[in-house]
Amino acid sequence: MKKICVVGTGYVGLVTAAGLADFGNSVIGVDIDESKIKILQKGGIPIYEPGLLEVVQRNVRAGRLSFTTDIDQAIQDSKVIFSAVGTPPGEGGEADLRAVWAVATSFAKNLNNYKVFINKSTVPVGTGKKTLELIKKNSEKKDSYDVVSNPEFLREGSAVGDFLNPDRVVVGSRSEKAQVIMKDVYHALIIRGVPYVETNIESAELIKYSSNAFLAVKITFINEIANLCDIVGGDVSEIAKAMGLDGRISPKFLHAGPGFGGSCFPKDTMALVEIFKEHGVKSRVVEATIEANEYQKEGVVAKLRSVMPDLKGKTIAILGLAFKPETDDTRFSPTKVVIPLLEKEGATVQVYDPVASDDFKRDFPNLDYKNNAYDAIEGADAMVLMTEWNEFRSLDMKRVKKLLKTPIFIDTRNTYDPRDMRDKGFTFVCTGRTKCAY
Ligand code: UGA
Repeated sequence: MKKICVVGTGYVGLVTAAGLADFGNSVIGVDIDESKIKILQKGGIPIYEPGLLEVVQRNVRAGRLSFTTDIDQAIQDSKVIFSAVGTPPGEGGEADLRAVWAVATSFAKNLNNYKVFINKSTVPVGTGKKTLELIKKNSEKKDSYDVVSNPEFLREGSAVGDFLNPDRVVVGSRSEKAQVIMKDVYHALIIRGVPYVETNIESAELIKYSSNAFLAVKITFINEIANLCDIVGGDVSEIAKAMGLDGRISPKFLHAGPGFGGSCFPKDTMALVEIFKEHGVKSRVVEATIEANEYQKEGVVAKLRSVMPDLKGKTIAILGLAFKPETDDTRFSPTKVVIPLLEKEGATVQVYDPVASDDFKRDFPNLDYKNNAYDAIEGADAMVLMTEWNEFRSLDMKRVKKLLKTPIFIDTRNTYDPRDMRDKGFTFVCTGRTKCAY
């Protein structure tokens, strides 16, 4: 069993630690946040991620996974050190790398034998090189380490499945010795035939940003087509389906909606634009994507206004606060743009989310948080579905209609059929399918 240390027990770090342990490695998860480590040591997990608790518990029971706040000891005891710490956007949109530098410094100070430093966090191209320099500056043992870039492609809400059954593993390193060790770490996937891509560090760093930015562009493109459909009467779902039948396009990430959010696409597109700028190149496509996505989020209020021109004094039910279903994460959630705009126009909101209310309360402590969808809908002048949680897909529409003051329903995620909603007596607006009912 290889000794692996994973620094950071956020959703990337914890999924990585648990997943690597599941592959048969011996893994120690480290975090400076004592409260998180306490939860983990007591057999719980500090985040909401479907299926993760089971994998953590299974590997703790098998003796392959443990947790500590003692980073020095954990690094000294390990051969392979994954850095999976946060790289949030800095003031200018660039990635804030302070946590990565802190891990690299600890790595350098605890180099008691040959070790590999693996960057799992999303970092700008050039970070691997800078990490090598930083370790060199802070350690006495000049030759006993290598630096690797191993980006993650985990989606919140399905991160466990994405880790255990990935589309590909990308490993960037100039060192053959490090590449051999990495193949050993991912042996369980390689023998199953999962594509394993070896590159240099710079390519691996760029593969991550390029993948996320490309997906963000794809979503934004279909959102624009949806906006056109809203005027000319096309059905964006049918268009996306037919486009996706072309193998060159693929049907994935062609769901129109209220704009992308989350901890990755907004941050990574902004950071990529900064990387382009830093190197004197203009990124017209990614810049336009960011701008169009802002417009898309604000457009939700315009949809409501199209059927309720005066929002002053109105109560609006908001269903869904998380940026996507199956997560309690509300970072860059489109709902965070929509609610202040509604309030600015004089409306008040009643909100409900199955798991993300606590996270949302950090930025919006004073909203009227309800315990279920029907409580949020009761007495509202209109309802807006922002996150496609499964429990919102099968609401009792007779009850909903009775509870609403006026049967106005804005379905930003296209979870309901426009004709059906029309037949049930709703004034229904969705994304790129609204006119299909009329
Ligand atoms: C994204 C990527 O999908 C992962 O591959 C990547 O590893 C991760 O970022 C990361 O960099 O850590 P995530 O942000 O968790 O994962 O979630 P996605 O499922 O990609 O959704 C992102 C946003 O796009 C959400 O707001 C979602 O509602 C929106 N979206 C997604 C759409 O509006 N339409 C789609 O068709 C797909």
